[in-house]
Amino acid sequence: MIEKITEEELKEQHFFAMRVKSVIHMFDHKPLAYTHSYGCQQNVSDGEKINGMLTEMGYELTDDIEKADFILYNTCAVRENAENRVFGNIGAVKNIKRKNPDLVVAVCGCMVQQEHIALQMKKKFPFVDIIFGTHVLHKFPEMLYKVFEKKERVLSIPECDGNIAEGLPVRRDSGFKASVPIMYGCNNFCTYCIVPFVRGRERSRDPEAIIDEVKGLIERGYKEILLLGQNVNSYGKDKGVSFSELLRRLDALEGEFKISFMTSHPKDCTRELIDTIAGSRHIAYHLHLPVQSGSDRILKLMNRHYDIAHYKELVAYAREKIPGLQLTTDIIVGFPGETYEDFKETLELMREIKYDSAFTFIYSKREGTKAAEMEDPVSEEEKGKWFRELLEVQGSVGDDAYKKYVGETLSILCEGRGRTDEKYLTGKSRQNIIVDFSGDDSLIGQFVSVKITKALNWALIGEIQQ
Ligand code: 5AD
Ligand code: SF4
Repeated sequence: MIEKITEEELKEQHFFAMRVKSVIHMFDHKPLAYTHSYGCQQNVSDGEKINGMLTEMGYELTDDIEKADFILYNTCAVRENAENRVFGNIGAVKNIKRKNPDLVVAVCGCMVQQEHIALQMKKKFPFVDIIFGTHVLHKFPEMLYKVFEKKERVLSIPECDGNIAEGLPVRRDSGFKASVPIMYGCNNFCTYCIVPFVRGRERSRDPEAIIDEVKGLIERGYKEILLLGQNVNSYGKDKGVSFSELLRRLDALEGEFKISFMTSHPKDCTRELIDTIAGSRHIAYHLHLPVQSGSDRILKLMNRHYDIAHYKELVAYAREKIPGLQLTTDIIVGFPGETYEDFKETLELMREIKYDSAFTFIYSKREGTKAAEMEDPVSEEEKGKWFRELLEVQGSVGDDAYKKYVGETLSILCEGRGRTDEKYLTGKSRQNIIVDFSGDDSLIGQFVSVKITKALNWALIGEIQQ
């Protein structure tokens, strides 16, 4: 069952936050917290809520882990190498705790939502005070209070379908770009993926809550709103409002802003959604449409519920309707049982579709998933070779696709210092293409008109138009 966290429960947590505040107020210095979130945007967004709660409790955030009174790692479980990095980083905290025995250390997120990992961590790292899973994020103040009050270690990883907590404090990393989760969890059970096990069942926020949040952000000067969900196309099944409808309502808001979203699942991505983007005022001309594999046989084994013919049809329709659509994807190499013949179909698809960019991963076995039980005869070395071949093919496609922009003037949301060179500013076009140009820092966080003078195969260079 999906729970809605009540206002009473949140008030209770606020009360715990205030009690923590009075404890850390007694420190002889300003209490400092260091937090780090690994993995996807959803996790980073959870991290912003944790930072919001820490700020409410009176902590100041720091990048200097050595000076921190509180350290938190918000972990990711999607691939093994992310987990190994977390183990390494937490191991290193031991020395910091030795120097500062009052330091409080917490680990949360998807990785420790897996019980076997949480228990392993508890045993291996006795200096970790709090371990909590994805479903009790809102109870973080209470857990921290317990550590201060009772001097005991807290382990909280309840199994549940998930919940929705509205109104948690958020401390956003950026002053002009904001992530807004519209739904949580996933029901798809792609056979390689741990997400449905650690993030629970799919659940959508009320459209009114989302629209109010976005409205508030725009009024406060935010220029880019990134809507988040594991599969945004199945938003609102229980709310009577489809994702396309939600987008139209957000697009109708007044102001100067851009809406992006991720991730779209090809099985649920509709022509209606594509038409909505094409007819919008504010929605980015960008689709992140993970294909995962170019082989129908592998897609079936992955439980993806679409075939390549359907995928290509969607892409053709989107490219026809959305001007200069930027198309990106995710690909997994070396899924159990994948042969070189299957893999060649992925290469072929890459050559044919010519993605603007592709996030490519070597398959990582996740305990508890269906794929973990499948025969996986291809060696890691061989998979590595395939992976490099894929990178080469991806690197060789689309080299002159951006040339068509030379001479055009595009509206660019300026995000910071340049990606091609520090002397430039950098930003993104409505297609989410990277554009670098000269200008001063006061333009960061603003929309500017930039005339494109040069095209690289992964970015554009231009000059500001007055
Ligand atoms: N191994 C490798 N890649 C994975 N992904 C998800 N699970 C795994 C796994 N077990 C990739 C998929 C997904 C992206 C976020 O991570 O491509 O789209
Ligand atoms: Fe994982 Fe598939 Fe859900 Fe994406 S749609 S989170 S890949 S199970």
